Amino acid sequence: MQIPDPALVVLVGASGSGKSTWAARHHRDVEVVSSDALRAVVGSGPSDLDASDDAFRLLDQIVEGRVRRGLTVVVDTLGLDPERRAGWAELARQHGFATVAVVLDTPAAVCRARNSARDRPVPAPVLGAQLQRMREVRAELDAEGWDVRAVATDAPEPVTSTTPAAEPAPGSGPRVLLQVSRFPWDDDPLAWLRDVARAADEAGFAGLALMDHLIQIPQVGRAWDPIPEPWVTLGALAALGTDLELGTLCTPATFRSPGIIAKAAATLDVLTGGRAFCGLGAGWWGREHAAYALDFPPTAQRLDDLEVAAETVRALWAPGTKAYAGDRVDLPETTCYPRPAGPLPLVIGGGGEQRTLRIAARWGDACNVQGDLETVRRKTAVLRKHCDDVGRPHDEVAVTVLDIAVVGDDRDDAWTRVERLRGRAKAADFAARHHAGDVVAHRERHDRLLEEGVGTIFLALPDLGGADDVERIAGLARR
Ligand code: UTP
Ligand code: MG
Repeated sequence: MQIPDPALVVLVGASGSGKSTWAARHHRDVEVVSSDALRAVVGSGPSDLDASDDAFRLLDQIVEGRVRRGLTVVVDTLGLDPERRAGWAELARQHGFATVAVVLDTPAAVCRARNSARDRPVPAPVLGAQLQRMREVRAELDAEGWDVRAVATDAPEPVTSTTPAAEPAPGSGPRVLLQVSRFPWDDDPLAWLRDVARAADEAGFAGLALMDHLIQIPQVGRAWDPIPEPWVTLGALAALGTDLELGTLCTPATFRSPGIIAKAAATLDVLTGGRAFCGLGAGWWGREHAAYALDFPPTAQRLDDLEVAAETVRALWAPGTKAYAGDRVDLPETTCYPRPAGPLPLVIGGGGEQRTLRIAARWGDACNVQGDLETVRRKTAVLRKHCDDVGRPHDEVAVTVLDIAVVGDDRDDAWTRVERLRGRAKAADFAARHHAGDVVAHRERHDRLLEEGVGTIFLALPDLGGADDVERIAGLARR
């Protein structure tokens, strides 16, 4: 059962119908606000009815606080009071939340049996009245506009664990390459890299992409964190004998002259037996250029330079040695040996709709974009238009996605990671941007990207520590 996130979830069911059990099974403890638990906080225990007013005041305050922050909240009360429901729903709608009522359709006899087995059973007439109300409440919820999900919990034994997700069928999802952007390798860089690469290969990831920066970028780490030269590093990875595709995401055209990029990528391609790819972007971070005495011209010029670089590498990778005279590039000869072992994919990085996607349409095998499904859909449409303009078939230029994802062992772990990583960002925004969730949730999202035509995903973990993390997310690798 899919519950949107964030959502206001209101449980509806008689005593003993299994509301608290359902909440504990599907949500994090902190997401669940329970009138019983709050009675025990302000009163003598969960059934201290004298504490109800205080408990509900607290409950309303907690619901309001979480909804205002964009955080899912599950209201664990009987849920039978239409006025209370209306108040929570109104609040949720003001904040653009999905409103979900989960109705516990547990047979009356089961509720009665569970109730009488309890320490402090609800008096029989009280339970009877609740069960009576349950017959009317479905119609009320429909009229109130809730997204209603019904569950019955008549299992004889309390269910303690969720069923494990089915293993994905091989080849059923997009290809996933790991993009490595941080290198917390302590005192043995080569061992760290080797372990990460072997774990990725073992797990079934399609390849490794290395970020290409001269100083670690603030989005990922601190300026004094190591960030190795990627083509040298890829050379070391090439020697491991894995099946991984290897390349950069992305090499800025500002760092090296285009011919040298062509040379490095072609060399990597022969060293890997044709498994190299080359990500190429315009460059965006002024600071690293200044620090390394590199020119950093204005955007329009950098995009021109990107196009020159793309055209140059194409010319140098082509068979033969003849002179090249193209749109922006003139070369007296194109003598680049070793030649790439096969077609060497050129991935143009960036989703700029006017220029970058056009450069990808003209020269690229792919363009790499970032963003949610809606963004991907829009960029794909723009790319296709550019393809039409420059006369290339749509299927010659793929859309790939850089997916910077918080992957937890479960939802609780995912949110612990969000809290650790978010810095000053709002938790709900950070979680949404990085799709915080477990492996199954990410896999479902990747499937939806595949449906949009994204056959290749570059997956980056903002908290990659080493090979253990790659093993931990092996469920996202598919071949
Ligand atoms: P809950 O304590 O979850 O019910 O389950 P509830 O709806 O929240 O009840 P109130 O309103 O707070 O009183 C009641 C009993 O039923 C068992 C639980 O272990 C618990 O002892 N149960 C629940 C099952 O045996 N199977 C289930 O699927 C759900
Ligand atoms: Mg309960």
